[in-house]
Amino acid sequence: MTQDTGAAAPGRRRQMEVYVAGAGGARPTVPVSAARLEARAANAMTPEAAAYVIGGAGLEASMAANRAAFGRHRFVPRVLRDVSARDLGVDLFGRRHRAPLLLAPIGVLELVHRQADLAVARAAAAEDIGLVFSNQASVAMEDCAAAMGTAPRWFQLYWSRDDAFVRSLLARAEKAGCEAIVVTLDTTLLGWRPRDLDLGYLPFLRGMGLAQYLSDPVFRSKIPARPPETGIRPRGAKLLATAYSLHRKGREFGLSMARMRAAAAYFTATYSRPDLNWTDIARLRAMTSLPIVLKGVRHADDARLAREHGVDGIVVSNHGGRQVDGETATLDALPGAVAAAGDMPVLFDSGIRTGADVAKALALGARAVFLGRPYVYGLALAGETGVREVIGNILAELDLTLALCGLDSIAALGPASLVANGPTGRTDPI
Ligand code: FNR
Repeated sequence: MTQDTGAAAPGRRRQMEVYVAGAGGARPTVPVSAARLEARAANAMTPEAAAYVIGGAGLEASMAANRAAFGRHRFVPRVLRDVSARDLGVDLFGRRHRAPLLLAPIGVLELVHRQADLAVARAAAAEDIGLVFSNQASVAMEDCAAAMGTAPRWFQLYWSRDDAFVRSLLARAEKAGCEAIVVTLDTTLLGWRPRDLDLGYLPFLRGMGLAQYLSDPVFRSKIPARPPETGIRPRGAKLLATAYSLHRKGREFGLSMARMRAAAAYFTATYSRPDLNWTDIARLRAMTSLPIVLKGVRHADDARLAREHGVDGIVVSNHGGRQVDGETATLDALPGAVAAAGDMPVLFDSGIRTGADVAKALALGARAVFLGRPYVYGLALAGETGVREVIGNILAELDLTLALCGLDSIAALGPASLVANGPTGRTDPI
């Protein structure tokens, strides 16, 4: 419990930090408003980075649906209940988390900031918030773990075609102190992303987002002497820039230019497994002793199957609308998944932009949520400080929302905290 006396509670403390500093003319380092945060970050990024981070699949209807769903649920605050002591903590897989918030696995952060995942790891640790290391990170998990002290970290796995490499990643994650394995299931193939396609831009072909691979002894031992033949050739005037990017990456990981090119091509040929199925999940049990969390579940039947296969948790997620265009909002899928999951914890992401959004997802049954794009915007604008501010703002609003709804703990949030606003409600189109 934090007592709401003076500076102890995150909501009031953050407010006062901003207002008192503002009395001297200072402004927050990154915008507090979710819409302004995204707009400023978009301006600060290269066109390629902005397309990759902000964009989604197809017409981006899933992204819009994710946001719209939050507008269809409204709080019904209660009054005159002593809420001076509040507790944001939640238990997950044997550990008490300070708040029901972890930073989502997000790949290729070097697109937006030189320190990439390292800045995020430091920010998460400083705020004592969990971080899920991405399989497509720009910094190896060991380096991020070393910057995190005892703060919670999980590892997100993309199941590659090479089981020996998967085993190596799992062993490294265990050694790096990861407390869960998050298997992402919605990206066994890359979604159709017009913003990236129109720029002809995939960062992995430039050697970016491959740190977990290039630092892995098993992956390195399998880099072929020549890139696998695809029959497709690069065209255009920027070939030299791409070659330079590959050269720099190769140098960072002690690989010659030729090996680095072969590594990027080998990654492209092996990273995905469209044949992934429930028997693999059963096999994963024998491959790691860590809790297994399936990310990308939307259908209640899949939540039920996950429980039947003995996994430890699921994340209701549609990858921020980056994979299938025109699918259901994750907030709409959440209650069905929660009902089917029984005792199995259900986490949530896709569309969380504010602390009030976090409270709505928790009220609809999520045990915790992953924060995605907003922390990347903070990173793009102000590195570690920017990520810390974004986390601080979200937690502050969550704390104040709880208090102002007459609730004193996360556990007190439930379906009774909300009413459905109906399909004609305002749609919060951030
Ligand atoms: C992602 N996401 C993601 N997920 C994952 O499991 N592994 C990954 O490497 C990535 N990489 C990634 C890159 C970028 C640029 C984005 C925006 C997202 C998905 C991420 O974990 C999360 O599900 C979404 O970001 C949630 O949607 P919002 O809230 O960010 O819109």
